[in-house]
Amino acid sequence: MDKYLITGGAGFIGSHIAESIRSQGHKVVVVDNLRTGFTKNIAHLDVDFVEGDIRDKELMLDLASDAKGIFHLAALVSVPESLQKISECLQINVEGTLNVLDAARETSGCKLILSSSAAIYGNNPQLPKVEHMLPEPLTPYAMTKLDGEFYLRMYSDQWNVPTASLRYFNVFGPRQNPDSAYAAAVPIFIQKALLNEAITIYGDGQQTRDFVYVKDVVAANMFALEKGTEVYNVALGHSATILELAERIISITGSKSHITFKPERAGDVKHSQADVAKFQSLGFVPKYDLNSALVETIAFYEQELLKK
Ligand SMILES: NC(=O)c1ccc[n+]([C@@H]2O[C@H](COP(=O)([O-])OP(=O)(O)OC[C@H]3O[C@@H](n4cnc5c(N)ncnc54)[C@H](O)[C@@H]3O)[C@@H](O)[C@H]2O)c1
Repeated sequence: MDKYLITGGAGFIGSHIAESIRSQGHKVVVVDNLRTGFTKNIAHLDVDFVEGDIRDKELMLDLASDAKGIFHLAALVSVPESLQKISECLQINVEGTLNVLDAARETSGCKLILSSSAAIYGNNPQLPKVEHMLPEPLTPYAMTKLDGEFYLRMYSDQWNVPTASLRYFNVFGPRQNPDSAYAAAVPIFIQKALLNEAITIYGDGQQTRDFVYVKDVVAANMFALEKGTEVYNVALGHSATILELAERIISITGSKSHITFKPERAGDVKHSQADVAKFQSLGFVPKYDLNSALVETIAFYEQELLKK
């Protein structure tokens, strides 16, 4: 039985990683300050939960001791919030990441996998987004994710800390919070569709996103634990328009919701699609297409509604 540390493990993606590692019989330690996470996300799991902060360096050193790997997901995760709270964003996403890196460095052979983001590509219009293109981060969130990637590389070069960074595109799936002020489109659209309420699209709905299912993101993390030392896009490698997404959700749920349009939001990137060849060439291929992942996700939110 190996030990793994998951920072931000009470969050949406982290809780799925915790589930996966537990199902393989390993010991899981979750550290989370519940900034945007919830203990209910891991309540069904036999994991050691520590309510704590990645900005606490001593705690990180202590929790990482003897760990075989660290999945580092804890972050200030909202792009708009990062613009309002720049220094808090730096403290969590950069200084916190340095604490986690120092903890990995103290633990011989411990591999650190960083949850990075496609936000680092910013407004660079080149499509698809490929790992070696020039990053054009536009916000503190994106800049700090890019910093994290560079620090991982530096710790690896300087001190042989095994690392890999995964640039997620638009992740969705069960347990993604539809109620936060900065919620993503998929859980909001599903919730609206299940309640037969209007679905609002900002802009003309022709903006595209590369949606990837959370179980494939978990698989990517497991894969990166074994293989890979660089930065990799994690996405399907196909994009869908937001309008298409809303229509699919309405069709799968059999909803009576109609779609309404509001003015485009400032700062929204028009198109996003990943080039996934680099991670694929190592052997990683996502299992879920958009439809099968939406069907599973919708089933989860249906159950949640029944509980209310
Ligand atoms: N969801 C996506 O589409 C997406 C896309 C790209 C990258 N990411 C990255 O994936 C990671 C997980 O995102 P998520 O969608 O699960 O978000 P989430 O908000 O559900 O998870 C983040 C977790 O980190 C915790 N946290 C925040 N600050 C902390 C701190 N200082 N100390 C300890 N814990 C702290 C939160 O409480 C939360 O549980 C993040 O790093 C995010 O930037 C997510």
